[in-house]
Amino acid sequence: MRIELLHEVGSTNDYIRRYLQDGEDVIVCAERQTGGKGTKGRSFASEQGGVYLSALTFHRDLPAERAFCVMTHAAVAACRTAHEFGIDAEIKWCNDLLVNGKKLCGILIENILSEGRVQASIVGIGMNVANDLSGLTDIAARFSDFLDPPPTVQAVREKLIENYLKSDTFGDYLGYVCFLGREITVCEGERIFRATAKRILSDGRLEVETEGKIRTLSAAEISLKI
Ligand code: BTN
Repeated sequence: MRIELLHEVGSTNDYIRRYLQDGEDVIVCAERQTGGKGTKGRSFASEQGGVYLSALTFHRDLPAERAFCVMTHAAVAACRTAHEFGIDAEIKWCNDLLVNGKKLCGILIENILSEGRVQASIVGIGMNVANDLSGLTDIAARFSDFLDPPPTVQAVREKLIENYLKSDTFGDYLGYVCFLGREITVCEGERIFRATAKRILSDGRLEVETEGKIRTLSAAEISLKI
């Protein structure tokens, strides 16, 4: 596996696209991003001191309906990494890693689809290690909030890559998910309602019970407060 480390880049997810034509898996990391991208068109704060990694993976035969396994794989690798440094991180469905309710890591997946199949995935993982989070301290956390001294960025990056290259199961993902069986608040456009989180289906949708009815929610359409 080719691994590239950049000092500074706009977004590793954008940069790695240049390798799409090569057809080989590659990982690109940066010490800092000037235009880090988050989900739903948001930006992702990416100061020096965090891990910013994108992995380009080509799939031999991955039907679009099974694309969620790309997300579970990334989330398990990130969560395992935090645990291996002694941080009790949990996965908030479907792509955030939380510690004590604050975000330690975010994941942005961009799939390249053709003829009903995922041909390749760009998996972007941003992990707060000892980076400046000023303005975000109510919602974000980093390794250095829990560990003194914190691990080096290089140590976290290497462990994350090692875990990313390991295999895992859907059960591993479910083992790290934090809110199943609990009451959550669902924001669906203008509508906000309380529901009980029941289970996560293998296609990535979340089944909830609200007002005595079962509903299946897609991450693209809703956001959750837990
Ligand atoms: C989110 O929580 O909204 C997702 C954040 C994903 C951030 C990572 S950092 C590496 C990669 N490059 C980007 O521009 N974004 C992802």
